[in-house]
Amino acid sequence: MTSKQKLLMNVERVREDFPILTRTVRGKPLVYLDSAATAQKPKVVIDSVSDFFSRYNANVHRAIYELGEEATREYEGAREKVAQFIHARSPNEVVFTKSTTESINAIAYGWGLKGKMKPGDEVVSTVMEHHSNHVPWFFVQDYKGVKLKWAGMTDDGALRMEDYDELITKWTKVVTVTHCSNVLGTINPVEEITKRAHEVGAICVVDAAQSVPHMSVDVQKIDCDFLAFSGHKMLGPTGIGVLYGKEDRLQEMEPLMGGGEMIREVHLGTAKWNDVPFKFEGGTPNMAGAIGLGVAVDYLNGIGMDQVRQHETDLTEYALETLGDVKGFHPFGLRDVSRRGGVISFSLGDVHPHDIASILDVEGIAIRSGHHCAQPLMERLNVPATARASFYVYNTPEEVDRLAAGLRKVLEVFA
Ligand code: ALA
Repeated sequence: MTSKQKLLMNVERVREDFPILTRTVRGKPLVYLDSAATAQKPKVVIDSVSDFFSRYNANVHRAIYELGEEATREYEGAREKVAQFIHARSPNEVVFTKSTTESINAIAYGWGLKGKMKPGDEVVSTVMEHHSNHVPWFFVQDYKGVKLKWAGMTDDGALRMEDYDELITKWTKVVTVTHCSNVLGTINPVEEITKRAHEVGAICVVDAAQSVPHMSVDVQKIDCDFLAFSGHKMLGPTGIGVLYGKEDRLQEMEPLMGGGEMIREVHLGTAKWNDVPFKFEGGTPNMAGAIGLGVAVDYLNGIGMDQVRQHETDLTEYALETLGDVKGFHPFGLRDVSRRGGVISFSLGDVHPHDIASILDVEGIAIRSGHHCAQPLMERLNVPATARASFYVYNTPEEVDRLAAGLRKVLEVFA
């Protein structure tokens, strides 16, 4: 059986739920292959946001009238759905933020800079992080005198686990790692890494922006202390993210933002914080975003996360096979699809990635090109940029075929 035939999910049925997928781009049917940047939205999610504003828009946790009660119930209901989705012990372990970036900044600031870290402590990261899991720790380095270290990568795109033997020491306070690389798709052994961190009394932070949308993630099984992800990459609205933290860790963390609702009491010059998770949600939250994220979680559960993962694994296998026949196609990252997500970064001869993306655009195909907010990884790969195709529940093998045909056009143009 070819991997094209293997695809089990009824993708055509799924595609009907996504209004944007019926549109044309440059006169051609849209082939959207940039879900690692942001995912498209099913109609139920779009409707839930409109429904919030049309029917029960009111501020949460403040109003004692019916609209406010409805808004609060739906907002807190979304927190419960997200908690169950990632297998958190309690909804109190789920903080709504605006993005993965905000979540990681909140940890670096609130647990690192203002909380538990002191000069001479160490943070162990990796070379394959997104900038949002590099730069927040630079603040801790610059303002607190904390030392940063990075685990390396093998030439085929796996994390060099043996580096941790040297890097993790009694001075390590934080081990931070991406669950799934947004460039290579490499899935890192976060359970093992968390165990290594805990052996020296350090905490483990997981950037799950590219994993939670695509596979079943169990924070209790991983046993990580913090985990961050975004709603918009998992079929939800933009401007809503999640910071998961073990309750004890959230207790010992300082809030990034002061303001309304994050306090228990305020006097001139002093304040006491509210309970977790509310002490991290100062100001009016993104209510419509959280509610829409809850609906996205329902939608993904309706498909089943094992099905989602299987679909993307089959599609990635098919893509690596099919694109491999295009002259000059060179994929970065592991060949073993069981160890990678549905993200394929590649080069095509010596054509610049931006030229590849521009020519594909004319064919109605949307991919990303550039450094993917991972410049240290580009330096490791010794390239300025890559082209990247990324898949989700609505992508089909026929779209992979169109990508292959598009790449052949690119070669013709540059012949
Ligand atoms: N982090 C997103 C990406 O990899 C934006 O494209």
